[in-house]
Amino acid sequence: MKIVVVENYEKLSSEAARIIINQLKKKPDSVLGLATGGTPVGMYENLRKAYAEGEVSFKDVKTYNLDEYCGIDPKHPQSYHYYMHQNLFDYIDIKPENVHLPSASENWENAAKAYNDLLNQTEIDLQVLGIGSNGHIGFNEPGTSFEQETFVVELAEKTRLDNQRFFNSLDEVPRYAITMGIKNIMQAKQILLLISGKNKAETAKRLLEGKVSNDFPASVLHLHPNVTVILDEDAYGLQK
Ligand code: F6R
Repeated sequence: MKIVVVENYEKLSSEAARIIINQLKKKPDSVLGLATGGTPVGMYENLRKAYAEGEVSFKDVKTYNLDEYCGIDPKHPQSYHYYMHQNLFDYIDIKPENVHLPSASENWENAAKAYNDLLNQTEIDLQVLGIGSNGHIGFNEPGTSFEQETFVVELAEKTRLDNQRFFNSLDEVPRYAITMGIKNIMQAKQILLLISGKNKAETAKRLLEGKVSNDFPASVLHLHPNVTVILDEDAYGLQK
């Protein structure tokens, strides 16, 4: 696990975007695994800028998102479909047919299986991850088996409380999501994990301690051969 500590969120965002841009320059038809949430917003901003300035093209890129809430329409402002269009897809030259997210508006179990089948037919070159304060990656909550494939997950109470900030009330935060499983995530050739902010310092500390356990899903990343973790100083703070 390669650990990169940068001064602040701006640097984390530009450094993360730089890794993706370099990947696309090296392999223009890369397959990217993408995350949503607050952390990668700045990274997407940098990617939009790099595209607008002609530095990078997404015309042959394929993307697979980690997860989607169940029971909210793809057009809902808090759906991850909406997020991805707002933050990236609507501003770049990616082909609509090359964009993939779990489709959680219909039969959830069938949709999870269909997404898993799709993932098993591809190989992700670079998977971007954030981390939940409880150590989740994707929505693989504490206790999830490292062998888990894409599934319908009941979100942990902590996750719903953390994500309440994006909704009007806790009641509106979905209770279920479809997420890539830990096994799908671990099949990516390369993984980039972003950790930002003081509120993630305890989480970062626990990850960097290095103990691998189902209780803390992100710890599985210690078993992957090619992981880069970028932390800003606020997130890294407790290591000093
Ligand atoms: C998002 C995802 C989640 C988030 C995590 C951190 O697609 O799978 O694991 O990365 O919940 O979210 P933020 O960045 O909002 O703290």
